Amino acid sequence: MAKVPVQFTLNGEEKADFVDGGATLLKVLREKVGDTSAKAGCQQGTCGSCSVIIDGELRLSCLTLAETCGGAEIHTTGGLATDGVLHPLQRAFMDEFAAQCGFCTPGMIMAAKVLLDRNPNPSHEDVVEALSGNVCRCTGYEPIIRAVLTAARSNSQNAA
Ligand code: FES
Ligand code: FES
Repeated sequence: MAKVPVQFTLNGEEKADFVDGGATLLKVLREKVGDTSAKAGCQQGTCGSCSVIIDGELRLSCLTLAETCGGAEIHTTGGLATDGVLHPLQRAFMDEFAAQCGFCTPGMIMAAKVLLDRNPNPSHEDVVEALSGNVCRCTGYEPIIRAVLTAARSNSQNAA
């Protein structure tokens, strides 16, 4: 398989390497870069577990070719905590018991982060809509929605 050069920023760090032409970003992140925070679920674009943020947009890394990410700014849950301090979304997911097996959690958190970056005070319906592409088989969704609303509240308290 032909190798293709690609360079992008992952959680603020420059990454540059040769990847297999046609390799998905999910595969490159997990198997080449060593960031396994995006999960390989369906790998067909239907579960959301592989969600990452590319240039501020929520994207499915299983449907994104790594070679199309040249110059992109990519963020994963692997880079959310700073100096060992959890991001408010990560903290809220813990506090609200929003993760059981945890497989969907990184994708849920990425989807929630895109929502809160755009809408710091979302309604319950806003959260449901923002997470509508992410499947959870364990929680029944309500603890996840509560966690996102809790994180939004804690963000607005910190900003006050
Ligand atoms: Fe990408 Fe399921 S693994 S949407
Ligand atoms: Fe298990 Fe969501 S916590 S799939």
